[in-house]
Amino acid sequence: MPKTFPGVTVVDHPLVQHKLTLMRRTSTSTKQFRELLNEIGMLICYEITRELPTELIDIETPLSPMKSPVIEGKKLVFAPILRAGMGFLDGMQNLIPSARVAFIGLYRDPTSLKSVEYYFKAPEDVADRLVVVMDPMLATGNSAIAAVDMLKDKGVTKLRLMCLLAAPEGVEKFTKAHPDVHVWTAAVDDHLNDHGYIVPGLGDAGDRMFGTK
Ligand code: URA
Repeated sequence: MPKTFPGVTVVDHPLVQHKLTLMRRTSTSTKQFRELLNEIGMLICYEITRELPTELIDIETPLSPMKSPVIEGKKLVFAPILRAGMGFLDGMQNLIPSARVAFIGLYRDPTSLKSVEYYFKAPEDVADRLVVVMDPMLATGNSAIAAVDMLKDKGVTKLRLMCLLAAPEGVEKFTKAHPDVHVWTAAVDDHLNDHGYIVPGLGDAGDRMFGTK
């Protein structure tokens, strides 16, 4: 029986799991890794947006007028944590082209593993919108916690966290710090190692996306 974590949805759709397996393999190229991350981003975003409210509008089909549903209210904000969060963005924008984007620049201090802010840019009315924070790897949880802190400081109240892989340690820390923010991930792995890497994981997501190492 897979372990469950309160406040976390594991997207166990076969397509997501298949693509995640390809991403984990060392032999997967940088190009394939980026493409797979975009595709999984689309599939997880589909699940995250499942409960969005809709409203009926009047339209005309070639045959008849009708009332038909559209997504209600203000558009979403996608908030990738730089740099690896960018890997989800294209796929999500393909799905929801009208979404706004907020950029959150955080790097992980290699010694303390604490998050250090270096950039923040969000739409002016971000506080009125549902914000999806994106970071493929929920490892220590520090970056995701810091990103959500920054958004809450700007008045955002409706937030979701989208990951690809999570460590149990990161899940616990994040859900304790922000119990109101639900987490979506494709898997919760075994543990975090002493260098803050998820095991078995897939390595450094940013390096694998951009070929840096
Ligand atoms: N960030 C990564 O890219 N990989 C990990 O395993 C942990 C943090």
